[in-house]
Order: sequence, then C-alpha cells, then structure tokens
Amino acid sequence: MAFFAFQLVGHAMGESMVGSETVVPLLFRWVHFVAGVTWIGLLYYFNLVQVPFMRETDAATKGGVVLKLLPRALWWFRWSALATVLAGFALMITAGIRNMAIMIGATLGLIMFLNVWLIIWPNQKVVIRMTGDATATKTPPPPEMAKHARRAYIASRTNFYLSFPMLLFMGMSAHFPQF
Ligand code: HEM
Repeated sequence: MAFFAFQLVGHAMGESMVGSETVVPLLFRWVHFVAGVTWIGLLYYFNLVQVPFMRETDAATKGGVVLKLLPRALWWFRWSALATVLAGFALMITAGIRNMAIMIGATLGLIMFLNVWLIIWPNQKVVIRMTGDATATKTPPPPEMAKHARRAYIASRTNFYLSFPMLLFMGMSAHFPQF
C-alpha cells in the first residue's frame, strides 16, 4: 500500500502534477465517493433489506428496529447525504467541471438530498417518536403513524429509482465525453 502510494506520488511529481490545483479536487473527489457510498449503501439497505424484513416481522421486533436500529442508520444516512452534496459541489467548483452530464447528475443528486432532509427524515422522526411513546405507555401507536411511514417510504423508493440515472450521469461526466 505504502509502496503504491510512493510510486503514485513520485510519478505525479516527476511530471510536476502535484499541486493544490490537483490535490484539492482529489480530496473533494475522495470525500465525495466515501460519503456517496455511505449514503447510497444505506439507501439500498433500506429498500432491499429493511423494508421487506419489516413486512414479515412481528410487532416487538419491529419496535426494536424502529427504536434502536433506525435512528443510528438515519444519522449516517442524512449526514452522509449532506457530505456527498457539499463535496460534490466543492469538486465541481475546484475542478471546474460544468458539463451536461454532471449538471443532470447533480440535479438528480440534489432532488435526492432534498427528499432525505425534507421528507424522509422529518417523517421518520415522527415514526420513531410515536413508536417510543407507544412502547412506553404499552398502547398501540396512533393511526396517523402509518401516514408518516408511507410518506417516508415513497420518498425513499423514489430516491432508490433516481439513484440509477444519477449514478449513470455521474460516471458519464468523466468517462463518456461524447455526451
Ligand atoms: C448535488 C449532488 C452532487 C454533485 C454536485 C456531484 C458532483 C460530482 C462531480 C463534480 C463529479 C466529478 C465528475 C468528473 O470528474 O467529471 C462527481 C463524480 C462522481 N459522483 Fe457525484 N455529485 C453529486 C451527487 C452524487 C451522489 C449522490 C453520488 C452517490 C454515490 C455521487 C457519486 C459520484 C461518483 C461515483 C462519481 C465518480 C464518477 C467517475 O469518475 O466515474 N455523486 N460528482
């Protein structure tokens, strides 16, 4: 690993390519990938694993998932979404990337980000609170909880589908210059 890093830096320095104008965008690109993988990885986990699991599990287990697992997963989910978008815009600015593919990809990414912060998180917060209250008072949760869960689910499913074209346009930006 260290050997590889030395080779890479040495090679780049030999061609005098290491400077703030290349290293700064590289750091933003790296943060963008790591945060993007965290965000979209959790999105796929919710849609492909957790939603089907919750459909076939008993009420007590569901309560445990909503109260113990969901808050942690949603913490990483919303903050990695913010980090992805901020690093993405920083990358666009510092590397001067303004092509059509990135404009479309970034627009889709921005819609997905707004879905996370304005629909998924506020509604899931209500679901977590209502589940907590129902568990504490040993009563069934109020009927409007289903409405909040449904809104969060629809926004999450929308983001799941939007992620496919979004990632296609992200990749096209650097690797499909014909567009
Ligand atoms: C507002 C949101 C976003 C902005 C402004 C943005 C911006 C960018 C920029 C400027 C690039 C570099 C493209 C190039 O080198 O020509 C890029 C690449 C990339 N972005 Fe985003 N992005 C956003 C959302 C996302 C999201 C949500 C993901 C999810 C994983 C993501 C994943 C990627 C990947 C994998 C690449 C690498 C493409 C490649 O080099 O093949 N981006 N993004």
